[in-house]
Amino acid sequence: MQDSTHLIDRLLTQGNLSEPDWKGLLETLFIRESEEQMIREIARKIQLESYGNRVFLRALIEISNYCPNGCKYCGISRWNGSLSRYRLDPKTILETVHLGYELGYRSFVLQGGEDPFFTDEILAELIEHIKHEHPDIALTLSIGERPESSYRLLFKAGADRYLLRHETADKSLYKWLHPNMSQANRIESLRSLKRVGFQTGSGFLVGLPGQTITAYAKDFMLLQELQPEMIGIGPFIPHCMTPLALENPGNVREVKLLLMLLRIAFPNALIPATTALGTLDPTSRFEALTLGANVLMPNITPMDNRKQYTLYDGKRISQDESADELKKIQSLCEQYGMRVELSRGDHNQFIPKCK
Ligand code: 5AD
Repeated sequence: MQDSTHLIDRLLTQGNLSEPDWKGLLETLFIRESEEQMIREIARKIQLESYGNRVFLRALIEISNYCPNGCKYCGISRWNGSLSRYRLDPKTILETVHLGYELGYRSFVLQGGEDPFFTDEILAELIEHIKHEHPDIALTLSIGERPESSYRLLFKAGADRYLLRHETADKSLYKWLHPNMSQANRIESLRSLKRVGFQTGSGFLVGLPGQTITAYAKDFMLLQELQPEMIGIGPFIPHCMTPLALENPGNVREVKLLLMLLRIAFPNALIPATTALGTLDPTSRFEALTLGANVLMPNITPMDNRKQYTLYDGKRISQDESADELKKIQSLCEQYGMRVELSRGDHNQFIPKCK
């Protein structure tokens, strides 16, 4: 087994690694705990150089749990017949943004399944409305694959960012997990989003059944090519109404290691400490902010609908009113030496494109 130091040096000088080198680095780090501290310190140093000790908040609104896709890991897949489905109407979404704005949020994420109710027209009108009332916010969409013409229209309407995880870069694993979907389409959608001018987010699941070190090496290779502004990773967590119900969840230590490596490989990326990580281990979600992650996405979905957006079992559903949740987050971040920032939180090298 190789020593990881020279591979990390190469990553720091070149800014990237080859697939075999990623594989070698991951193999060493996953097995040898002794090298973790060094990686942690490098990741922390890079994070402080790029964004200081700032943690950016994005208020998350889960707009619909209708989805025509059948992703094997996902609790809101079309095959979950026991889920009660909901969609927020545009008026409720707008009101929820108002409430978040009053609390101080200036960055919002509208996330949902690929619900056909949300046509280009309905979304464009909603986005224009939100941006008209709150021109100073950043608006992120996370509503799946759409044609480039649709992305263009949503960008023109005022959306700033788009999250679309590639989920896994491993071809056969992707195919098995996503019947009737195409990995090529998904990656092409990510390229479309960048072409259109969105600050684009990708990312992958960790600890899926059959996911190997080679799969993560491929994830890093794909990310090196795409250079997304945002990268979200989280552990796979089984959901009882999916075909993967009896599988083991992803490993928290591996998620943390991958977060450190993401920070080192993508010094300027915005990287969330995800709710999935917090679901497996609440402390790790905040600890992650000291080893590479610099974004949190508090949920401000209307309380009645929160329990229906069940991507996985045990999903952390805050019972707090959003104002109390915000105070708690602020104080927890301070405990970890971090400072919450309620700005738009743009990528530090992003050059906006005219709409
Ligand atoms: N465990 C962890 N994350 C999941 N997601 C969907 N289902 C699960 C699960 N069972 C993630 C996907 C998706 C994001 C919104 O939620 O990566 O992109």
